[in-house]
Amino acid sequence: PTAEFGIRAARTDDPAETDRLYDICLRTAASGKDATGSFEDPRLPGDIFLAPYLRYAPDLAWVLARPDRPASGYVLGVADTASFERTLEREWWPGLRARREGVPFREGSRDAFARKWIDRPPTAPAEVAAAYPAHLHIDLLPEAQGGGNGSRLIHTLLGALRSRGVHGVHLGVGKANAGAVGFYRHLGFEVLAEDPGSFTLGMKLLER
Ligand code: ACO
Repeated sequence: PTAEFGIRAARTDDPAETDRLYDICLRTAASGKDATGSFEDPRLPGDIFLAPYLRYAPDLAWVLARPDRPASGYVLGVADTASFERTLEREWWPGLRARREGVPFREGSRDAFARKWIDRPPTAPAEVAAAYPAHLHIDLLPEAQGGGNGSRLIHTLLGALRSRGVHGVHLGVGKANAGAVGFYRHLGFEVLAEDPGSFTLGMKLLER
């Protein structure tokens, strides 16, 4: 029963928790479904979509877990996307690029997509970052999905952003992830932009 799940701050200094969150990231990395076995380098999704958030925005990272059980999901955010992107360009991506330099990957594979992301990380358009400065990621294992847990996690993050005076939040989601798109639209996120494969969705948090 999902009622047993609680929300607590992520333990960013606990390597066992970090490994567990890397696993959740991998197990939701195929448009919301399990990508285990489809990455030659299974740390890639977490290196991109998880670890920099734990490192640079630890106060906006929560996990969903049953009492005394490993996490079943997480929500991650940053309040200021433009500043986060500059920090990663300076401190995060160079190390990942160096670590994987010369390591081959197959064109068209999930690894290729991730390696290209690391080499040329997409950045939020200036008008999106100005009006919706925060952005987020959320991933729940199937056992935790569909019982209101995603909504509770998102609202934990949105409440923290509001109390910091952040006036809007955006996110990127693949069009192939119909479940997540439906979830966000249901919560009131609007389509800000789209390209052939993905939507940028956003929500205002405070009246200006
Ligand atoms: N279409 C319409 N409404 C939906 C949909 C949908 N596809 N999915 C959920 N909803 C509604 C629910 O009915 C519910 O409505 P209610 O509050 O009125 O009863 C509300 O949205 C909240 O649903 P939850 O039960 O909280 O959703 P869940 O716990 O499954 O969380 C989530 C959604 C986060 C997408 C989860 O299923 C998940 O982690 N999926 C796999 C990973 C993933 O896809 N993550 C998103 C990647 S994109 C990114 O992080 C930026």
